[in-house]
Amino acid sequence: MENQSVSVRSMKCSLDKVKDNALLIGFIKEKTGLSGELKKFDAEHGNIVSSFIRDNSFKAEKGDVKSIYINKSLKNIVLVGLGEQDKFSISVMQNAVADACKKLRNGVESLSILLGSFSGGVLDEKELAEKASLGCLMGLYKFTEFKTKDKDKIKSIRQITLITDSGHNLEKETEYAAIVAEAVNKTRDFVNTPPNVATPEHIADYAKNIGKNFGIKAKIFDENGIAKMKMGCFLGVARGSVNKPRLVVLEYNGAAKSKKPIVIVGKGVTFDSGGLNVKPYPYILNMKDDKGGALAAIHTIEACAKLRMPVNLVVIAPFCENMIDAASYRPDDVLTAYNGMTVEIKNTDAEGRLILADALAYAAELKPEVIIDIATLTGASMVTLGYVATPFLATDEKLSEKIKSASKKSLEKVWELPLWPEFEESIKSDVADIKNISEEGDAGVIIGATFLKNFVGEVPWAHIDIGTTVWSKVDKGILTKGGTGATVRLMMELLREWK
Ligand code: BES
Ligand code: ZN
Ligand code: ZN
Repeated sequence: MENQSVSVRSMKCSLDKVKDNALLIGFIKEKTGLSGELKKFDAEHGNIVSSFIRDNSFKAEKGDVKSIYINKSLKNIVLVGLGEQDKFSISVMQNAVADACKKLRNGVESLSILLGSFSGGVLDEKELAEKASLGCLMGLYKFTEFKTKDKDKIKSIRQITLITDSGHNLEKETEYAAIVAEAVNKTRDFVNTPPNVATPEHIADYAKNIGKNFGIKAKIFDENGIAKMKMGCFLGVARGSVNKPRLVVLEYNGAAKSKKPIVIVGKGVTFDSGGLNVKPYPYILNMKDDKGGALAAIHTIEACAKLRMPVNLVVIAPFCENMIDAASYRPDDVLTAYNGMTVEIKNTDAEGRLILADALAYAAELKPEVIIDIATLTGASMVTLGYVATPFLATDEKLSEKIKSASKKSLEKVWELPLWPEFEESIKSDVADIKNISEEGDAGVIIGATFLKNFVGEVPWAHIDIGTTVWSKVDKGILTKGGTGATVRLMMELLREWK
């Protein structure tokens, strides 16, 4: 992975001691005057920065990145536009830093950031350090594993230094950012990995060793184990593939034994063809991203253990492939879930809720404090909130408030939808307890959650539908085309704040 070799540190340093290829300086549109260290540096170097700005070569519009070549030990001063003051936010700053890194990656090996200049006059130094570091590390991500040609031309920045005026120790912030960015980028790696490689067995073998050195315990169940546990829904979906299913259970105990665990359940469909209700082209494309929830969950627990967070966390990730075969499950089948409920299949493409049904019922048996599931459950999430935000639903107000608060802090936008009882009617079945779709075809995200709610018992629960936000079509700011690592930052923030 390209990003693993980028490191971030912070230090107090006078500008003429900077020896990097580039020094990033941020400007708000209305405030392009120089002050402090920068003013001194400018005066000592023939007004090179102030005259560049005065010549109107740089207006500090959002997205502007302009390099001034300085033939000294510091090679380039890079002016970064942060746009207008009243539109400035920590997200604007993070994306601006990420975009500048993307533009500079070819040719710049080490880069410094004049941290204070990116605060917009409003951001706290610690938060700024953390979010700027995350911006660099996420923005520089590239998936190159399956390229064989011109690999040496894919370059990256190796060292990033945050230059502070205060001299405060920001190691905690840069360390947090490095660990979370690594979790995001590893999630992206696996989501991007093709389905012929990232099979359930392959991912389970990887998960077995996750966080071994950080005290994570792993249990992996194969098809026999899953059958023994009578996870009929999960088995039904998995039956049509030669790539056999795996149930991954990871456990990290960072708090007292007496403290109930938090359980994160993730959907891990390594490829979703739709099954007998096969997806037509082009909807079948990208269905390798259907494992994004499980991978976010797995890398969240790893990051959590690395940071020694004081929580007890369990991750339950069912992995399988939804394929077409003589043995495939079919519409009209009735499957029996782990909790004994019967489910009539009306559409084999609504498979995620089936594998989650068993995983959630298993989670509920652990009597956890809460259960949160992360799943690429519906295409309907697209018409709900598009690529901008992730819809979620919850049975418990306290949990929903925690998720909203974590959303603000992590900069991952979520929006709550209601779990009103009116929706329950449309998944009643004539032959079984429930059916796996509503034949009215409306309110897809809520119907998906309404189905899942049957399997969590009385445990406070939230469902996060990343059907749309798991994938990016653009290479911009913190995003790179492909897997996004959605919910990793959100979950990390939630766990960090957990009380
Ligand atoms: N994995 C898909 C959801 C999905 C679709 C994610 C497109 C990302 C992009 C899921 O298994 C699915 O196929 N859901 C169906 C449900 C329907 C049959 C009720 C859907 O959304 O069309
Ligand atoms: Zn599907
Ligand atoms: Zn799916």
